[in-house]
Amino acid sequence: MSAQPASTSKPKIGLIGSGNVGSNLGRVWASKGYQVMFSSRDIEADRKLAAQVGSGARAGTPQEAAAFADVLVFAVPYGALPELGRSLGAALQGKVLIDACNPFPQRDGAIADEARAQGAGAVSARLLPGARIVRAFNAVGAARMGVMHQTPGKVGMPIASDDQAAVEVASSLIRDIGFEPVLVGRLDMGRFLMPGTPLAGEHTPEEIRRIAATLKP
Ligand SMILES: NC(=O)c1ccc[n+]([C@@H]2O[C@H](COP(=O)([O-])OP(=O)(O)OC[C@H]3O[C@@H](n4cnc5c(N)ncnc54)[C@H](OP(=O)(O)O)[C@@H]3O)[C@@H](O)[C@H]2O)c1
Repeated sequence: MSAQPASTSKPKIGLIGSGNVGSNLGRVWASKGYQVMFSSRDIEADRKLAAQVGSGARAGTPQEAAAFADVLVFAVPYGALPELGRSLGAALQGKVLIDACNPFPQRDGAIADEARAQGAGAVSARLLPGARIVRAFNAVGAARMGVMHQTPGKVGMPIASDDQAAVEVASSLIRDIGFEPVLVGRLDMGRFLMPGTPLAGEHTPEEIRRIAATLKP
């Protein structure tokens, strides 16, 4: 991947969770000239990842990433959201937050049942109060997130949010990853942005619009 120099005019990105999803997204954004900070509960792993990614990448704790970032990307198991919402607290206020997290009861426990019943968008908004949430990157494979920039614009990325300005910020980041963002509705449409729903998998932007028109929150 040929890297662009880190830019001070681009929003700084804090990744909360640096596994399959967080590492692929952060690597591409760093290559596009964004400053990114990887975080998880394992700072040593994040330091190694940042060193591998190179220019534009650094490592920190989730608290440091939240303080550093203009835009936060949450890529953790859904079960981690209640604790992260409490521990990051005020640092989330007013921040654009891309929520890639999906609720799976076997992995995430009771909060996943709640999110599936009430909709992941609504429950994420309750768990991460004050953040300007955009659900995105929920139902496309993490490895694809790392390569889609090589063939940009062909595959759509369904997104849902109540905050138009946050949608614009997120859309620009999503295009840099290589997907064409398609706003399918408000955060209550976030219930359809996860594996096992008609919007899951890879679709053209037009297909996403057609499928979304058949769905009611
Ligand atoms: N894999 C996919 O293809 C894919 C696609 C779309 C969406 N998703 C969703 O995206 C989320 C991340 O998936 P993934 O595949 O990237 O998972 P993963 O590879 O298991 O990575 C999860 C990351 O979150 C960190 N983490 C876990 N608990 C944490 C906590 N309490 N505080 C801070 N960091 C924490 C983990 O590091 P430590 O455990 O060391 O803290 C790790 O860096 C999940 O909700 C998943 O359902 C996955």
